[in-house]
Amino acid sequence: MTARINPSILTADFADLGSEVARVANADAVHVDVMDNHFVPNLTFGPRMVEALQRTSPIPLDVHLMISDADRWAPGYAELGVFSVTFHAEAAADPVALARRLRQIGARAGLALKPGTPVEAYLELLPEFDQLLVMTVEPGFGGQSFMHDMVPKIRAARAAIGDRPVWLQVDGGISPDTIGIAAEAGADTFVAGSAVYQAADGADPAAAIEALRGLAGAHPSH
Ligand code: DX5
Ligand code: ZN
Repeated sequence: MTARINPSILTADFADLGSEVARVANADAVHVDVMDNHFVPNLTFGPRMVEALQRTSPIPLDVHLMISDADRWAPGYAELGVFSVTFHAEAAADPVALARRLRQIGARAGLALKPGTPVEAYLELLPEFDQLLVMTVEPGFGGQSFMHDMVPKIRAARAAIGDRPVWLQVDGGISPDTIGIAAEAGADTFVAGSAVYQAADGADPAAAIEALRGLAGAHPSH
């Protein structure tokens, strides 16, 4: 398994996002955290910003929607041509219909679960999705600590996914200290914000990505 590393630009310099994205061109995708100040208590990007990033990013966009009423708003992000659109189970009235719509438009469909949302109720929906995102912090802010009590949830998700072509993404507190734990539990796609853009050892983003990829690959679960 090659670990996928998706840097989150939430911790990047918002005044210079074009350059910040160019600095992570060796990553697998750029993780774009869309927040609406309603589903989460923070406000970030909207469709115009995502459209601009889509036009300029050298690598695919992995859009993480932390917004209410995903049924209404998520398709518009897929229509921008982004690689992947992940919405929260807690924010969608009909996750299956929405996933089908996203795929029909041409995006990969992702389902995200907050730490308090059990994975079991959603496992039967897996054939409708390309990605399952297990949040390892409460969504809303970068720089929080990895919630170790999410490890059993990652393991349960991996067991249910089995050989299906569904990527298992983790997001929140992923660092050189925690990425191996998440990889060993079964994650294959890793979002990292502060560990890439504010690496503790002062590494530049490209070097931080390579280091994280190596650490994840050293702890494969499958
Ligand atoms: C949190 C976001 C994350 C965040 C991760 O709500 O979904 O993508 O940027 O940041 P770190 O890696 O710093 O925890
Ligand atoms: Zn995110």
